[in-house]
Amino acid sequence: MTIENYLRPLMEIFWLRPETAAWRACDCLALHEVEFTGPIADVGCGDGLFSFTRAGGRLNSAYDMFSTVNELEEFFDKVDIYDHFDENTTIPIVTEKPLYNIDVGVDQKLSLLKKAYSLGLYNEVRPADANESLPLEDGRFYTIYSNIVYWLDNYRNTLREMRRALAEDGQIILQLPNITMRDYSFFQRLYVRTGDPSWEWLHLIDRGRSDNIRQCKTYAEWKEIFSDEGLRIVHHRNYLSKNILEAWDIGLRPISPFLIEMANVLPPEKRLDIKERWVEAMMPLVSPFCLMENSTDEIHPPGFHLFVLKKIK
Ligand SMILES: C[S@@+](CC[C@H](N)C(=O)[O-])C[C@H]1O[C@@H](n2cnc3c(N)ncnc32)[C@H](O)[C@@H]1O
Repeated sequence: MTIENYLRPLMEIFWLRPETAAWRACDCLALHEVEFTGPIADVGCGDGLFSFTRAGGRLNSAYDMFSTVNELEEFFDKVDIYDHFDENTTIPIVTEKPLYNIDVGVDQKLSLLKKAYSLGLYNEVRPADANESLPLEDGRFYTIYSNIVYWLDNYRNTLREMRRALAEDGQIILQLPNITMRDYSFFQRLYVRTGDPSWEWLHLIDRGRSDNIRQCKTYAEWKEIFSDEGLRIVHHRNYLSKNILEAWDIGLRPISPFLIEMANVLPPEKRLDIKERWVEAMMPLVSPFCLMENSTDEIHPPGFHLFVLKKIK
């Protein structure tokens, strides 16, 4: 499996945000060695586009997630402009079905759950706040996947809830930030850490994101937390290099509302033509960037962990 297999469909989905496509392609590569065996739950599934792509699903390139977003001015008030569902315009055309289905997708945002359900990947979607009890049946799931645990305040409760819903020999798959993650945020490193007012402007780039990344921990710290919650690590790797995370930290995010607004006034055929040429032009730039993942950097350890956990019996 090469980076292209994942990067191209992700670039087609996130075309105006190539940095997001790069991160998600690295997620897919890290997860490549892990098998998702059913029944499966996806906690914090969002719009499902990532899990759909990871599962081998592909969409017609005419599908464009940026065509239906909330009022773009809200971007500057730190509102999630993608928290929007319009059933008349958001119908995805699946060209390749995913290789497996996910039994239950959980998220707190109803609009994103509706988008996720429209992909045909999830058998069921259930709204819930993952800080509270999870709407998952006791002992039902062989695979519980989540890439959002670090957004949560009450993440230990979530781990306990996942363990409760896990089948006896089941696996919990988590993607979590390493202690180094904060070093790769310009706002955190140059302003929050130093308090130097000349870097205060970096909040324009950060937009509150790095505050949302609440749990950045070393392998040893995560291991101790898992052990306290009756879970042991059966597989681990670090991924997401400093290069990728620093590129993602800026990316096209600051100008993205304007790019979206410009794309949204184009006639559909012209828009698709530009999108296809854009993706073609970006691939040779983003692809080698993702491949830097494979080079080791002793001084700057990767910013993320992939953990596979099982119950301590
Ligand atoms: C960055 S998105 C990731 C979505 C999806 N897993 C993906 O990979 O594209 C984070 C998701 O976490 C969800 N989320 C954040 N806090 C949550 C909570 N307390 N309960 C449930 N979902 C939550 C958000 O609604 C959002 O869909």
